[in-house]
Amino acid sequence: MKLLVTGGAGFIGSNFIHYWLKQHPEDNIVNLDVLSYAGNLENHASIEGNKHYRFVKGDITDKEVVFPLVEDADIVVHFAAETHVDRSILDPAVFVRTNVMGTQVLLEAVKEYGTRFHHVSTDEVFGALGPNDPPFNEDTKYDPRSPYSASKAGADHLVRAYYHTYGIPMTISNCSNNYGPYMFPEKMMPLFISNLLEDKKVPVYGDGLQVRDWIHVDDHARGVDFILQKGTIGETYYLGGNAEKKNIDIVKLLLTYLGKDESYIEYVKDRPGHDRRYAIDFSKATRELGWKPEVAFEQGLKEMVEWYVANQEWVARCKSGDYQAYYDEWYNKTLKK
Ligand code: NAD
Ligand code: DAU
Repeated sequence: MKLLVTGGAGFIGSNFIHYWLKQHPEDNIVNLDVLSYAGNLENHASIEGNKHYRFVKGDITDKEVVFPLVEDADIVVHFAAETHVDRSILDPAVFVRTNVMGTQVLLEAVKEYGTRFHHVSTDEVFGALGPNDPPFNEDTKYDPRSPYSASKAGADHLVRAYYHTYGIPMTISNCSNNYGPYMFPEKMMPLFISNLLEDKKVPVYGDGLQVRDWIHVDDHARGVDFILQKGTIGETYYLGGNAEKKNIDIVKLLLTYLGKDESYIEYVKDRPGHDRRYAIDFSKATRELGWKPEVAFEQGLKEMVEWYVANQEWVARCKSGDYQAYYDEWYNKTLKK
């Protein structure tokens, strides 16, 4: 089988490619990635020279690049996106360009060649839950509240529209917050781990009582595999980690793992439009695919911390270049009290 993976140099795409080559060593993967600030070919050092893997540098909005690759593939697994909510607050336009327009270019190619298409989406498209609401489920309406989540919602709607209008063979997954190795150190967990390793404070937004449902990235990769093997065309599956945690409780775990005290917490202003709580009901994926998350949260988090301790040069390279300028702008405009 030939897979075209978009965004395979990012956090989840990298882990997905490693997972796939291990589970399906005879399959061939082409990784199409533009190498934005979040894309990193170092993530694939361990598979360099693998004749089943090929990298193509290119933009998913570029038809000339996308069409021949889609024609040559049996399956497209679409991860490529702009993904950081904070960046979408500073500069929404690139989110619309990549997440909406890029997805539409891929859909045109899929329509042309009839290639199987899996769209990787997020639980953020459903907005925020109150403390006593049931987790997001098949009845939850779309209610995106950040430019990032609105652009992902737009992409989800386009994928479904191409299914209903043109009959493209598609599936969608909406997944909760991933964690694990190769996560770019602008997202909460790796930012906090790397700050603590650099003896810096961690900026906790608002009161720190926001809740996310954390899933290990390997469980996400396995979930996508199950959908590709057993999913029904036209269907959407929710994937979650069964691990609802308050941000502040994660911070306390990280402080303990890294031998720091609570003086390392800096309460900053809240993220504008900050969604209070996410949680996912993944019972359809269990019922129809036999999938459920397997990695226990505290064990997964401990392993993630160990990975970041062992890979501080990787982190330092991520935090070089334009990173500091972006972060200073974000901090000074939005977070500073
Ligand atoms: P990431 O930011 O780490 O990686 C995104 C990758 O896409 C990068 O390698 C980047 O270079 C590439 N890319 C960006 N624009 C591109 C373009 N125009 N053309 C080609 N490649 C481009 O993101 P991630 O966290 O790995 O997320 C991957 C997917 O999973 C996204 O679609 C995201 O919405 C979804 N998702 C993420 C999470 C999460 O917790 N991180 C949860 C649910 C769903
Ligand atoms: O739910 C899935 C989504 O999870 C994905 O679709 C997104 O691509 C991914 O970035 C993630 O979005 P979040 O906004 O939940 O992740 P982030 O790591 O940015 O923030 C997690 C929580 O931590 C959130 O409540 C905001 C808070 N936070 C974040 C940062 C960066 C802080 O308190 N301080 C921080 O410095």
